[in-house]
Amino acid sequence: AEEFHLEPKPLHLASDGPFGHWDKQQLQRGFQVYKEVCSACHSLRHIAFRDLTGIGYSEAQVKAIAEQWQIPQPSVNKDTGEPDTRPNKPSDYFPLVFANETAAKAANNNAVPPDLSLMVKAREGGAAYIHSLITGYRPQPAELLEKFPTAKTPPGLHYNPYFATLNLAMPPPLTSDGQVQYEDGTKPTIDQMSTDVAAFLTWTAEPDMMTRHRTGYAAVLFLLIFIGLTFGAYKNIWRDVK
Ligand code: HEM
Repeated sequence: AEEFHLEPKPLHLASDGPFGHWDKQQLQRGFQVYKEVCSACHSLRHIAFRDLTGIGYSEAQVKAIAEQWQIPQPSVNKDTGEPDTRPNKPSDYFPLVFANETAAKAANNNAVPPDLSLMVKAREGGAAYIHSLITGYRPQPAELLEKFPTAKTPPGLHYNPYFATLNLAMPPPLTSDGQVQYEDGTKPTIDQMSTDVAAFLTWTAEPDMMTRHRTGYAAVLFLLIFIGLTFGAYKNIWRDVK
């Protein structure tokens, strides 16, 4: 069923290219989508709450965000038998969602929702792939079933032509406009929310990208000056030689 697999649709983000920049408003919207939708199943274990200052939150806001997440402790409540919890601190990393692989599979039709921190680097197409995947669910095309009658999406899986095997265990996470309420006036269409979360996951995969780019410009500028100096020195040394 190769021919039914689709390449990601192009996606343009402010952070694209060597002269790109972070659109912090968009990254905050994307974080909100992650927090309110994706974090039910996906962890973000390479990101600490304090890293969120990098997308424009103040330290007080970061502290408040961290406290909204509870993390289980090794100790157990004597009355309920449930693990004790404590609120996260800004220095904590985003908590894991499931206690272990078995628990993750039990909750997700035998599939494990992967950690999303580095997903943009892990899949060909990066942010564009994530955007296409999230917005790409649809009924199975009749031609596919005519050609490959045994390829019918099994119960509990979902047809998505952007996914390598066409059927995946993740149910469509964004199903209606306005699923997330944005505070900056941006209209939360499905397309907008999935673009924003793809932008946010571009940042989580490389929060220091802009610092790396700036270091690059400084290095190129230094090299240009150095070329001038060496050329001048060369002219000077050979000045009297005909
Ligand atoms: C897989 C993104 C919400 C459950 C994935 C993958 C991505 C992703 C990029 C990897 C696909 C691949 O392997 O190429 C997101 C985003 C979400 C979101 C951006 C929020 C907008 C959810 C939710 C659930 C979920 C809410 C649970 C109800 C899963 C599972 C898989 C998966 C089980 C593994 C699928 C498989 O291998 O068949 N998700 N996800 N996701 N997600 Fe999500």
